[in-house]
Amino acid sequence: MRVSHRMETIPFSGIRKVFEEVVRREKKGDSIIHLEIGRPDFDTPPNIKEKAKWALDKGFVHYTSNYGLPELRDAISQKLKSDNGLDYHPDNEIIVTIGANEAVFIAMMALLNPGDEVLVPSPCWTHYYQCARLSGAVPIPVPLKKENNYLPVVEDFEQHLSSKTRMMVVNSPNNPTGTVYGKDCLEQLAEFVNQHDLLVLSDEIYEKLIYGTARHISFAAIADMYERTVTINGLSKIYSMTGWRLGYTAAPRQLSDAMVRVHQYTSVCATTFAQYGGVEALNGPQDSVEGMVQEFNRRRIMVCERLKSMPGIHLVEPRGAFYVLPYIGELGISPEAFATYLLDKAKIAVVPGEAFGDFTEGTIRISYANSYENLVKAMDRMETAIASL
Ligand SMILES: Cc1ncc(COP(=O)(O)O)c(C=O)c1O
Repeated sequence: MRVSHRMETIPFSGIRKVFEEVVRREKKGDSIIHLEIGRPDFDTPPNIKEKAKWALDKGFVHYTSNYGLPELRDAISQKLKSDNGLDYHPDNEIIVTIGANEAVFIAMMALLNPGDEVLVPSPCWTHYYQCARLSGAVPIPVPLKKENNYLPVVEDFEQHLSSKTRMMVVNSPNNPTGTVYGKDCLEQLAEFVNQHDLLVLSDEIYEKLIYGTARHISFAAIADMYERTVTINGLSKIYSMTGWRLGYTAAPRQLSDAMVRVHQYTSVCATTFAQYGGVEALNGPQDSVEGMVQEFNRRRIMVCERLKSMPGIHLVEPRGAFYVLPYIGELGISPEAFATYLLDKAKIAVVPGEAFGDFTEGTIRISYANSYENLVKAMDRMETAIASL
């Protein structure tokens, strides 16, 4: 039996590989501190769970509209207006998806032709590469350099442009670098996008996980970008709802019309009672978000301080999301070997940078979505392990 040629270009997720190795070791009795995970370690707030239970008890167990539950689309439309200054009609410009994962997939399937090129600033969440490939398009990695604090530089995009370039990906706050793009940076990218008549996929899933003076600006809110942009967001990270699988796209009607047809023929709709929980997440009290952001910030500060004090480790301080991508190149060991060494010696799991695409040489990704106490322990162990390298 054969699989499609298409699948020959789609690798198994690098993060999953680490995760499975960790599970194998835990089964053998190892006690490992997880710094590889890409999900908040908090429980979903109880009011959200209660609403989903209520929906189940009320018998809301059938399909919703392909666009999603109308109440949820209303809540998303309202949120986009008040938080992002964006106007999307809840009837036909918002699609509730099975996480931001599906949102990226339907956008690329609906908007790219085979052979089209997609500029993907990298290091990145490699889902963009694979969804572009699944659609028959070609991802073109564009370097984000640590010398430039992992911020995009238009000249680098220009160097990777061709007559086939159709789309550009923007992900701010960023996984895995934690970089947050400021207004100037977004405006420069917007000028480039206009000049070359591109579409933009703006993944804003970490929007609220932002620290210090950094501020989130939606790409679609930059002058002239609304018509060209698919805004992607979701509830996974903000409300600690990764397992609920709720994301969404927001885009002008013509783009949404195409995307909803991909969604129709793949998933139909997101889980109905989960969508009721989503309504409560967006419309209910937001204090759990504030508490979570404060705690992430406390951990971020401590982890960055500790890493900076370790010999051979260099760091661009993250300002958003819950990751840091230290450069370990001076330790004289490859990131893959270092990750294995940390698992063996220090019982900590980190992800080698290569799981985040191109231009990741010499890096590892650390997630601080673990308790403060575990993070302190992990930093102690890492320091000792480096000393005996
Ligand atoms: C940048 C980015 N976008 C989207 C997602 C996926 O989110 P969801 O759980 O909504 O599918 C992730 C998950 O790690 C991510 O890092």
